[in-house]
Amino acid sequence: MTASGVHDGGTAYRFSIAPMMQRTDRHFRYLARLISRRVRLYTEMVTSAAIVHGHRDHLLGYASAEHPVALQLGGSDPAELAAAAAIGADYGYDEINLNCGCPSDRVQAGAFGACLMREPVRVAACVAAMRAAVPATLPVTVKTRLGVDDLYDYDYFRDFVEQVAAAGCTVFQVHARKAWLAGLSPKENREIPPLEYDWVYRLKRARPDLTVVINGGITSSTQAARHVAQVDGVMIGRHAYAVPCDLAGFEACLYGTPAPLSRATIVAAYLDYAGRELARGVAQRLLLRHLFNLYQGQPGARHWRRSLARYLDEGAVELTRIAALAERMPSGAGVAGATAHTG
Ligand SMILES: Cc1cc2nc3c(=O)[nH]c(=O)nc-3n(C[C@H](O)[C@H](O)[C@H](O)COP(=O)(O)O)c2cc1C
Repeated sequence: MTASGVHDGGTAYRFSIAPMMQRTDRHFRYLARLISRRVRLYTEMVTSAAIVHGHRDHLLGYASAEHPVALQLGGSDPAELAAAAAIGADYGYDEINLNCGCPSDRVQAGAFGACLMREPVRVAACVAAMRAAVPATLPVTVKTRLGVDDLYDYDYFRDFVEQVAAAGCTVFQVHARKAWLAGLSPKENREIPPLEYDWVYRLKRARPDLTVVINGGITSSTQAARHVAQVDGVMIGRHAYAVPCDLAGFEACLYGTPAPLSRATIVAAYLDYAGRELARGVAQRLLLRHLFNLYQGQPGARHWRRSLARYLDEGAVELTRIAALAERMPSGAGVAGATAHTG
């Protein structure tokens, strides 16, 4: 432990952005990387069936600047997951992650996501198959909840982890609440079941050999620092999208690195990227939608959002207009200091 209460060992998982459908596409990940050089990035969940049968470059392509970047898979068939993991390895992902935490109906119908917490033997078989299909140096990891429906006690959770660990998974990202599959929407399932951070700390104490990352409800670097005194890392979901520039403050706190870029510099670098992506035929709205929250919490945030929305409504926007808007924004200072260490 360092003086700041941060674990010394294994820093690769200390800070990550959670996989989020409709959010953490390759464009948002590129933006996030401009804000934090160290944060570990995760794709949206991609089903193993889509990878095996679908348009791989479209599903799996990413920019080399995104590293370290993990591919999150959804699925429950060991052979298909193994095939998808091998393809992900060929694409150069730094980690293959299996989703055992997502509660949506669509995911339940496919018998994967959070309902897999009912089937530790199957999850272990999936992990073993994925593990065997990729190089030994490539981590195969599992993102899970604390439980599902009535399968909700600490011993069940620990046994689930133990069985999956025995199959070759040494890294667990734990969304620290259960999922109620019958009755709650995915959104409610991210808010209503209470957070039980203690279960995650307890798991780390019981299995110090495992890398345990905590997820759920983390919105400040002060909270993050408290968590990493107990576990190996924090994974930030909604807050990373809602206030992306806070990522710089988290990084400064968790890694001690300075974050020298101003928002205007980040916008300029992102617009360079967006220009290249537009030339490849990517729709402008897909690229620019991730910029809306860039000034969140800063003076002029509303003006920024409204101007951006107006430009987009007008049709194709000259990217130089957005750069000029950023130059006119009041907060030209580095992004790290302003919002770090808020309780
Ligand atoms: C819009 C949205 C989409 C999500 N998509 C996924 C997903 O594809 N895979 C997954 O494992 N979790 C998904 N999640 C859950 C997040 O990864 C995370 O576990 C959850 O939001 C709790 O973390 P937070 O409180 O920091 O947001 C999603 C969450 C949101 C808000």
